[in-house]
Amino acid sequence: TTIFLKDYKPFGFDVTSVALTFDLNPHATRVKSRIAFAPTSDAEEEIFLHGENLTLISARIDGQPVAPEITDQGLTCKVPATPFVWEAEVEIDPANNTALEGLYMSNGMYCTQCEAEGFRKITYYPDRPDVMSVFTVTINGPHPVLLSNGNPVNASEGRAEWHDPWPKPAYLFALVAGDLVAHSDSFTTRSGQEVDLNLYVRPGDEGKCAFGMQALKDSMKWDEDVYGREYDLDVFNIVAVDDFNMGAMENKGLNIFNSSAVLASPETATDSNFERIEAIIAHEYFHNWTGNRITCRDWFQLCLKEGLTVFRDSQFTSDMRSAPVKRISDVIELRARQFPEDQGPLAHPVRPESFQEINNFYTATVYEKGAEVIGMLRRLVGAEAYSKALDLYFDRHDGQACTIEDWLKVFEDTTGRDLSQFKRWYSQAGTPTVTVKDAWYAGTYILTFTQDLKPSATTADPQPQVIPIVTGLLSPSGEELVPSQVLELTEASQSFTFEGLSERPIPSVLRGFSAPVVLQRDLPEEHTAFLLAHDTDPFNRWEAGRDLARKSLLGMIREGAAPDAKYLDGLRAVFADDSLDPAYRALMLGVPGQSDLARTLHELGEVPDPQAIWDNAEGMGRAQADKLGDLLPGIYDQHQVREPYQPNAEQSGRRSLANAALRLMSLTDGPDRAQAQYDAADNMTQQLTALSVLLRQKAGDDALRAFEQQWSHDRLVMDKWFGLQVMQAEPNQVASTAQRLTEHADFNWKNPNRFRAVIGAMASHHAGFHHESGAAYTLLADWLIKLDPVNPQTTARMCSVFQTWKRYDESRQAKIAAELDRILALPDLSRDTTEMLTRIRGT
Ligand code: ARG
Ligand code: ZN
Repeated sequence: TTIFLKDYKPFGFDVTSVALTFDLNPHATRVKSRIAFAPTSDAEEEIFLHGENLTLISARIDGQPVAPEITDQGLTCKVPATPFVWEAEVEIDPANNTALEGLYMSNGMYCTQCEAEGFRKITYYPDRPDVMSVFTVTINGPHPVLLSNGNPVNASEGRAEWHDPWPKPAYLFALVAGDLVAHSDSFTTRSGQEVDLNLYVRPGDEGKCAFGMQALKDSMKWDEDVYGREYDLDVFNIVAVDDFNMGAMENKGLNIFNSSAVLASPETATDSNFERIEAIIAHEYFHNWTGNRITCRDWFQLCLKEGLTVFRDSQFTSDMRSAPVKRISDVIELRARQFPEDQGPLAHPVRPESFQEINNFYTATVYEKGAEVIGMLRRLVGAEAYSKALDLYFDRHDGQACTIEDWLKVFEDTTGRDLSQFKRWYSQAGTPTVTVKDAWYAGTYILTFTQDLKPSATTADPQPQVIPIVTGLLSPSGEELVPSQVLELTEASQSFTFEGLSERPIPSVLRGFSAPVVLQRDLPEEHTAFLLAHDTDPFNRWEAGRDLARKSLLGMIREGAAPDAKYLDGLRAVFADDSLDPAYRALMLGVPGQSDLARTLHELGEVPDPQAIWDNAEGMGRAQADKLGDLLPGIYDQHQVREPYQPNAEQSGRRSLANAALRLMSLTDGPDRAQAQYDAADNMTQQLTALSVLLRQKAGDDALRAFEQQWSHDRLVMDKWFGLQVMQAEPNQVASTAQRLTEHADFNWKNPNRFRAVIGAMASHHAGFHHESGAAYTLLADWLIKLDPVNPQTTARMCSVFQTWKRYDESRQAKIAAELDRILALPDLSRDTTEMLTRIRGT
C-alpha cells in the first residue's frame, strides 16, 4: 500500500504520559506499558495502535480487561470518550530480531533502533512522529549498564529507572542494556548546567573513545556559539553498537552509534574515519534541537530535520577544519550519490509525496540535497536573516511536530520574501541543468542563463526554480573586477548585465557550488584554464581543474585523444604551488569518478563502456605521473608527518598530499616505496594507503597476510581488510574476489558493516560491477536474496546500486533485468526490497 502526504490526518488523542517497564530476556522480553490518552476533537470511538511481531499477553482500559481486534499491523479497540489509561503487556524476542529494528541484540547487549517505525515492534503505540509524550522507563535485567532516554531517577542492582521530561515521539525512544564500560567526561553549558557525558563501549574498546568524546564537547560548544542552542538534560549518553543498519541515531539523551561511526584510535582508524566520526557525532548531537525539540509532523517532512541537520554538521566541519576542502568533498559526494538518484528511476523530491516503506527514503536526496536547499536559502536571504529566521524557528516551534510550510514561513516572516517559487526545490525531483553564455558590447558584459529540468517519475511538468548563482568577474590579469554576488535565476531564461567595465571579463559562475545543478558553460575553452590558474574562489578553481579533467577524459574515451596538455600544465602549476593548502592540492589531483563519467556520457546521449572508462582513467593516472614525476619524491618527503599522530586537518592534509604522491610514484617506480611505508607505518592512514598501493601493484600478498594477522581481533579494521581487496581488484577480478571473501570464516554477512565491506565494495567498483561477464550482477542478486528475509532494510538500501542500469548497453541491461526479475519473483520478498526493485525496474 502506498501512503500519501495529502492524506495526512491528525491523531484523535493526546498522549499525556507513557510509563514502560522492561523485563529483559533474550527470547522472551516482557514489556508493560501504561499510557494515558485524552481524546481530542478529532477522536473517534475506536483507537488504532501500531504493533508488529508482538505477542499480546494482556490489555486493559482503566483497569478493565479489553479484547482488541489484532492484525499484523496493530490493534483496534473501542475506547471511552473521556481520558483513559491503556495498560498492556506484550512479549517480544530480541535475540531473533535480525532486522535490527525495534529491540534487538548485538554481541549479547540489548539495543534499539526505532526510527522510523521500529517502536511498534516494542509495544502497541500510536507510532507516528506527531504524537509526542513524556516517557518514564523502568528496566529490569541482570546487566551492569541499563540505559534509556532522559535523566536517571533511580537505580539499584538489576534495575534502573529513567525519566525524560521532554515530550518526544516514539521514534526517539531508546533502551540499551549490557556489560559495557563508560568513557566519561563532562560539559558545562553556558548557563552553568553541568552535563555528564558518557560513551559506552564493549570492554576492550576503551582506547577508541577519546576522539569521539572531544568531538561531542566541540559540538556542544559550537551549537551554543553559532545557533544559541544549549543542551537540556543532566546526562548525554552515546553507545557504540557493532550491528547497526545506519550510521547513528539521535535518540533523546541516548544516541546509539554504529561502532564504525564513533570508535577510533590512530592505530585503527584513518584520517577520513576520524573526520567522518566528528561529523556524525555533531550531526546526532545537533538533532537534539533540529529533530528532537522540534520534530516532524509526518515522515514526508523528514528533510525538515535531516536536511537542516546535515547543513548544520557541514557548517561545523567547515569551522573545525578547512571550509573549501569540506565544500569540495561534499560536492564530490553529491555528484556521486545524489545526482544518479535524481537522474534515474529512484528520483523523488526532497519532500516526497508518497511512499510504501519510509526506510527507503533516507536518501541522498532527502539528506544531502535537503542540506543544499538550506544552503541556497541562506545564500538568498543572507547570513544575518538566516540567523534571525532560525531564532524564530526555535522560538515559535519548540516542542512541536512541524512541516516544511512551518519552516519556510519563519523565513517569510523574517524577511518579507515570498518563498512560493523557492518551495519548488522541495516538491520537484530532478537535477536542473543550467547553461550559461556571455556577450560583450563596448563596456557592457551580459551573462545569460537558461535552466532546464527534465520530467521524472514524480515530476511530470517541472517549472522553473529559484537558482542562486554566485558569480564574480575577473580581469584578464586575474584581479577580481566584480566581487562575488548572488544572481537570482528565477525564469527559464534570464540575462544579467554588468556595466562600465574597461575590458571583457572572465566570469566565475556558480562559485562555491551555490546551487545543486549541472552547469554547462557555453563559454570559450581558455576560460577554464584561466580559472584554474587564477580564480580567487577556491571551489571554482578546483572545479575548473575538474572540468578540464572531465573534458580530457571524455575526449580520451570517445575519440581516443591523448590526455589534454592544458589540463596537465594547469595541474602541474597548482600542484607545485607551495602556498596552497596540501589537502587542497591533493584534491586537485583527483579526477571525476568512473561512475560520474558514465553519468556524463549518458547525459551526452552516449552509452558508456565501463571497461573503456576504466582503461582511460588508468591512462590519465599514468599521464599525471609522467607530468608531475620530478616533483613527486620531493612532495612525498616534504609532507611526511614526523610529530606524533593527530587526526587534525593540518596533519591529515599533509598525509593526503604525500599519499597522493605515493600512489602516482608507484605507477612509474613500482611498489618499493609503498612497502617501506607499510613496514614503517604506526597509524592506520599510512598503513592502509600503503596496503592499497601494494594491492594495486599486485605486490600486496605478504602485507595482506600480515595485516590479517595483526588485526584479526578488530572488527572495524577487518572490515577495511575485506573491502580493500575488492576495491583494489582489476575489473575482471572483482566478482571473484568478492565471492572468495564471502567464503572467509570471518565473513559474518548478518553484520551490515561486514556485508557492505564486501558486497557493497563490489557494487561500487564501477568497472568491476559492470564487467561484461555479468558475474557481479549475479553475485549481488544471490546475496540480496539471502539477506532480504534476515534484514530487509540493509537489503533494500543495497538495491539502489542497480538504479543506473538503463545507462548501459542492451546486453548489460538484459543481464540486470534478469536479476531484478529473479529477485522480484520471490514469494515473500520484503516490502522494503519490493518497493526499491519495482521502482528501479520500471515498466
Ligand atoms: N536519524 C538518523 C540520522 O540521521 C538516521 C536514522 C535512519 N533510520 C532508518 N530507519 N533509515 O542520523
Ligand atoms: Zn540525521
